[in-house]
This record gives sequence, C-alpha cells and structure tokens, in this order.
Amino acid sequence: MNLEILQETFTTIRLNSEQFVSVFYDNLFTECPEVKNLFAGTDISKQERKLMTVFVVIISNLHDISYLRNLLKNLGKRHLKYGVIRKHYHLLGETMLKTLESFLPEKWTAEVEQAWKDAYQTIVNLMLEGAKDDNFSSDDRLPYIPSIVEKLRAEAIAQKYLRDGRSINLVKHRLLEDYYFKELEQKIGRAETMKIVSDVVKKASQKELNYNKVKIS
Ligand code: HEM
Repeated sequence: MNLEILQETFTTIRLNSEQFVSVFYDNLFTECPEVKNLFAGTDISKQERKLMTVFVVIISNLHDISYLRNLLKNLGKRHLKYGVIRKHYHLLGETMLKTLESFLPEKWTAEVEQAWKDAYQTIVNLMLEGAKDDNFSSDDRLPYIPSIVEKLRAEAIAQKYLRDGRSINLVKHRLLEDYYFKELEQKIGRAETMKIVSDVVKKASQKELNYNKVKIS
C-alpha cells in the first residue's frame, strides 16, 4: 500500500469532505439502486459524517494495522447486522473509486488508482474478517456492538478530560451523562454500558500516555 499517495490525495479530498461524501452517496444510490433499501431508516447526512470520520481515522492510522484490524473487524460485524453482503462491498468500492477520480481529476494516475484499490481491499478484508464469525448465524444472537464512530468521539472527549487532570472515575461518570451512553443504557442496561465506558476510558488513557511520551521525546 502506498501510504504517501493515499495521505497526499486524501488531503485534497478533505478540503471538500462534505461535498465528497454527499456526491458519493448520490452516486451509490444512482448506480446501485439495490443497496438503497439497506439505508431505508438512515439519516443520510449523519451517515455522511460517520463515513468521513471513519475515513479520517483509517487514513491517519494506515501505519498501525493492529489498531485498524480491531476497529474494522468491529465495523464489519456491525455491517453483518445491517444486512451488508460481500457483493455490496464490491459495488461500493466501484462507486468509491469513481467518486475519488472525479474529485482528483488532475491527480488521478494509474498509481493513485492502484493505491486506493489496495487500501479499499485492505479495509474490506478486515471488515469481512469481522463479519465471517460463524458463531452468530442469527441476528438475535449477535451481541450488541456499540457505534464505532460514537466510541471514537467518546474517546476524544475522555482524552480531553484526562489531559485536564480529571480522575478516571470522574471521566467515566461524565461519559455516562453523554447523550449516546444515555441512549445505550436504555437499550442494554447500566452494567453493559459501564463496560463499554470503561473500555473507552482505558483506550483514551493509553492514547494519552503515548501522546505524553511523544511530547517528552
Ligand atoms: C469501506 C467500506 C465501508 C466503510 C468504511 C463503512 C463505514 C460505515 C460507518 C462508519 C457506519 C456507521 C457505523 C456506526 O454507527 O458505528 C456505517 C453504517 C452503515 N453502512 Fe457502511 N461502510 C462500508 C461499507 C458498506 C457497504 C458495502 C454497505 C452496503 C452497501 C454499507 C451499508 C451501511 C449501512 C446500511 C449502515 C447503517 C446506517 C444506519 O445507521 O442506519 N456500508 N458504515
């Protein structure tokens, strides 16, 4: 995978990120109408923001495959629940490449196209790895998987509190008051929500430790 090309061209995409995701979904629904019903109950403008958030996280962490594996396997499991099948990944990939090309008219060389194809394939392979868990054949048995995007948002909030010197316990309590975790508590109960909050705070404190290490060195 050519990280340099990906990061360089993604910088251009980010300059028009809102337009990019909006054109991308328009293209997807025009070119692949069969996937439209998967998004029947979806607020598309929210979905556009989520997709861009995940792309930013993916592109910034391409050097750290073990972090991405975890994130994308979970995202893949969620997609299994949404009814997304292997063929859909192929359709979405075609649309993604076309949309990228239209936003990078001067930069779109064979090398750039290959770099994005490789990146998309890596992302999909990791998502499918998470989705192929044979232990869960029915939707009911699939355990609740919290939203990846909301978890990333919560991690950023937790990191900020930790940087301001708040204690781990206080950060957990603050997160429990956040709208997403309040909703989650209604769905899966206090104990399960607390487990997810603890996980978020643990990740945030690890990131914070790494941040401090980099600052010192
Ligand atoms: C590179 C591949 C993909 C990425 C990075 C991606 C990313 C995302 C993200 C970040 C979310 C929000 C999940 C959350 O809340 O945590 C999402 C939801 C969703 N995605 Fe994907 N996705 C991909 C492929 C696909 C494909 C191939 C389809 C089907 C055509 C699809 C259909 C959906 C649906 C139906 C939702 C749920 C929307 C809702 O909340 O109502 N995705 N996707």
